[in-house]
Parts: sequence; C-alpha cells; structure tokens
Amino acid sequence: MSSWERDFAILSKARTSHLLRGVLAFFLGLAPGLTASADEAVRLDRWSDRERALIQSLSLESLGARPLDPSNVYSDNPGAAALGERIFFDPRFSANSEVSCSSCHQPDYGFTDAAELSIGIGTTHRRSMPLIGMAYQVWFAWDGGNDSLWSQALEPFEDPVEHGFSRAQVARLIATEYGQEYEHVFGALPPSEVFSIQDEHSEDDHDQITRVFVNVGKALAAYISDLPIEPTRSIFMRALCRERMPNTWTC
Ligand code: HEC
Repeated sequence: MSSWERDFAILSKARTSHLLRGVLAFFLGLAPGLTASADEAVRLDRWSDRERALIQSLSLESLGARPLDPSNVYSDNPGAAALGERIFFDPRFSANSEVSCSSCHQPDYGFTDAAELSIGIGTTHRRSMPLIGMAYQVWFAWDGGNDSLWSQALEPFEDPVEHGFSRAQVARLIATEYGQEYEHVFGALPPSEVFSIQDEHSEDDHDQITRVFVNVGKALAAYISDLPIEPTRSIFMRALCRERMPNTWTC
C-alpha cells in the first residue's frame, strides 16, 4: 500500500469523511476557471485499479440513501422544505434587505461563492462552503463547530457581518410574510403582541420567538439537506469517463 493510499484509508474511517467527500466533490466538480487544456494534462495511467476504486468511493453519489436527521422531525417534510427554499432566497431577512443565504451559497457555484472571503453586511473571516450532501454530515462549518444542520443554518441571521438580523426580526417577518406556510407545517404562531418584543417583555415571549426561529432553522435544513447530488461535470470526471471506469459517474 502506498503512503497515499494509507493516508486515505485512515481518513476514510474518520467521522469527517463525509465532509471530505463534499469538499473533494466541490474542488473536483465545481471549481470554476479550470480549462479544457488543463483537462488534457490530467494523467490517469499511473493509477492502479485499487487507487481508482478508492477515488470512486469518494464520490458523493456512492453515499446511498439520504439519512434523516434525528434532531429535526421536519427533515423529510415537503412543506418545511418549500418554506425553507423561499427563506433561503429572500434578502428581506437581513439588515439592509440585500443579503440572503444565496448571496454566499449560490446554486451556480455548488451553493458556495467565488469569493476568497464571503461578503454579507460586512466581510466574513472565512470562505463560504458548498451545501451539497449536507444530510450525510455530522459536523458543520470549517472547524466542525456545529453538530446540527438546523442550528448551523440559523447562525448567519444573527451574525453582524452576515445577515445582521435578530431572531425577533426573523420571527416577525415569518408572521407577516409567511404566516400561512409556517402554520401549515409548524402549527399556530404566537399571538401578534409577542412580535413587538422589547427588552421589558417576559422570558416567556422570548421563548416563543426562539421557537419560531428554531423552526425556521428546521425548514432551512429540510431544504438544504434535500438538494440533489447531481453527477458533476468536471475535467476530473470527464477524464475518469474517458478511462471508462465501470459503474462510476454518468458520462
Ligand atoms: C455572508 C456570507 C454568508 C451568508 C449570507 C450565509 N452563509 Fe452559510 N456559510 C458562510 C461561511 C463563511 C461558512 C463557513 C462558516 C465557518 O466555517 O464558520 C458557511 C457555512 C454554512 C454551512 C455549513 C456547511 C458545511 O459543509 O459544514 C451551512 C449549512 C450554511 N452556511 C447555511 C447557510 C444558511 C441556511 C444561510 C442563510 C440563513 C447562510 N448559510 C448564509 C457564509 C455565509
């Protein structure tokens, strides 16, 4: 076994393997700016059958059926996913009404962006991440600092350099713009006076706001975790197709 194979064998056993697959799929499948001439430069003839099988196993398509998220009872709910999709693309959920999740997670870039550091209300201190294959991940963000998709999906709202919003503002917008869709999935919204929440309001009002906010995270997670994993069209995949790798990607 070469040291290259050994390294990957160890890594593939680690819990982070799904994250690695996503990152690999992004760089191999979606990195913009690579040209056809670079394609020609890819040399596969030095790879053994074993190495090819290893590469194939890293494909997102080899992951199998999507697991449901035990922390999100709505992860397979079509109404929640439809609401999550609308929120994902709605810039009104931000301090200047110009930033949506899709500002930094653009469908054309595998749900990431082309920037070195992502820009929302201000400049973030990290690069955006692709949102493909999320249902298979157990840790989120570059440092694995979050252990649920729905809580990761909520962080940008309250980050001053991303959406620069508050959970009370999110909840109020849900009540005014998405009340019917929300109640269809999650049940009754809190009474309207709760949405004019001020500091002097009771802890109970805060809880009701937070409950709406958490449900927004669950709707976003239902949408994100259902994004299709499409056969990628990279120079890497095309090269593998030319090599006629059996049972690999659609060529
Ligand atoms: C201003 C840019 C920006 C906006 C807006 C933004 N994100 Fe992100 N997103 C990032 C960055 C940067 C990271 C990496 C975070 C980290 O490592 O701390 C990230 C990471 C993520 C991840 C983790 C992906 C993974 O593979 O672990 C998810 C999920 C996510 N964002 C969802 C969302 C959702 C949902 C919204 C809208 C509510 C959103 N993002 C809005 C920049 C943004």
